[in-house]
Amino acid sequence: MQNHRDNWSSKITFVFAAAGSAVGLGNLWRFSYEAGNNGGGLFVLIYLIAIVFVASPVLLAELCMGRHTSKDAIGSFISIKPGTKFRYIGHMGYIAAIMILSFYSAIAGVSVGYLYKAISGEFSILSQTESVETLVKQSQNMYNALAADHLSMSILIVIFMLMTVYIVSKGIAGGIEKFTKIFMPILFVILGIMIIRSLTLPNASDGVAFYLQPKISSLNIDLVISAIGQAFFSLSLGMGTMITYGSYLSKKENLPQSAGMIALFDTSIAVLAGFMVFPVLFSLGMSPEQGAGGMFVVLPILFSKIPLGQIFAILFFGLLAIAALTSTISLLEVPVAIMVDNRNWNRKKASWMLGAVTLLFAIPAAIFEDFFSLWNQIWGTVALTVGGLLISIFVGWVWKPENALREMDPNSKLLKIGRIWAFLIKYFIPVLILIILISSVINLF
Ligand code: TRP
Repeated sequence: MQNHRDNWSSKITFVFAAAGSAVGLGNLWRFSYEAGNNGGGLFVLIYLIAIVFVASPVLLAELCMGRHTSKDAIGSFISIKPGTKFRYIGHMGYIAAIMILSFYSAIAGVSVGYLYKAISGEFSILSQTESVETLVKQSQNMYNALAADHLSMSILIVIFMLMTVYIVSKGIAGGIEKFTKIFMPILFVILGIMIIRSLTLPNASDGVAFYLQPKISSLNIDLVISAIGQAFFSLSLGMGTMITYGSYLSKKENLPQSAGMIALFDTSIAVLAGFMVFPVLFSLGMSPEQGAGGMFVVLPILFSKIPLGQIFAILFFGLLAIAALTSTISLLEVPVAIMVDNRNWNRKKASWMLGAVTLLFAIPAAIFEDFFSLWNQIWGTVALTVGGLLISIFVGWVWKPENALREMDPNSKLLKIGRIWAFLIKYFIPVLILIILISSVINLF
């Protein structure tokens, strides 16, 4: 069978494409949602530790598998060890991609809805309001009205999925990186401006304290799982996205360096997002434990306190929607590549069919809050953590770090880092995740 694959056009292009997958609603919306509901500082600390010692090594492992085999999320396991049961990771990734896409596209739909609100000037009533309580009420009502309007929500989700499907059906190399190269720098600037305003609001320091001071007393097993799950989610790991992206990667690429850059980009945006959200939240006297809509309630109020706020709101929600789109593209790409490589479907048919299946779950995720948060927990946290565990076992014990290192570092220049990576992948990550998963199962009883 002929296996023709496009390659990314240059190194920086690849880093941008992968960063486009990684940077998305996960950094802005999900990170602040999870940090707020898990006590703030301690969650952030464990998340950062997990990025360095757990998620980044798995990122490197996935990229390495993908490039070595030039295969999709199922094929790359088989091509390293024919017949291996580990190929079911790819099958799980296939389902996880569709399920994550479903609740993700509900929030992406809200982002597009908020872009529309910003353009139509709906937020302007907020700038005429003085009292903090009324301000919060008005903004909450705006969010609730959209969330309860099932027809509008469904239309927004369908619009968003149509864009995703259209781009994926046209093939991978054309476009994602170009978007990302332009939007990433603008996103940094806008975040910077919003953070300055947020930090200068009354009582902003309470928010900073919540965000940065770890309260050891809030330590519990769910918090640790959520933080590790968020690290996997944010870097698009644990289900084959980065295997699939790595498969389009040329042999010239320096994998450890690319992985480091992607992780750094992605983590900085998440950390900045926290500085944008929590000071406003505390300044408004709101509890950090907000539902999925927290960020959407808080930000319009922040814009109402910035000169030319409407323009910033349009830019921000526009960028949020684009960031979400470059991530949904990478999510849909996983099952599409599998159908194309294994079932000989053509790309167009695979994209449209799988997009339609996603909608079947996306609409209930938008309508029922419990379904949404259950899906977020099962697929966004647990499935990815289990996936990350299995991938590190596969690379550490089946493929073996020596072989992986030959792929990522043919001239053995990275002896020391290579040895640390091998230790993390083979022992540290599997043992750590196993302990955490087992204690959380015990905790259930
Ligand atoms: N990482 C993306 C974000 O932070 C979401 C995402 C894209 C993802 N592809 C993924 C999450 C694969 C898990 C697995 O928004």
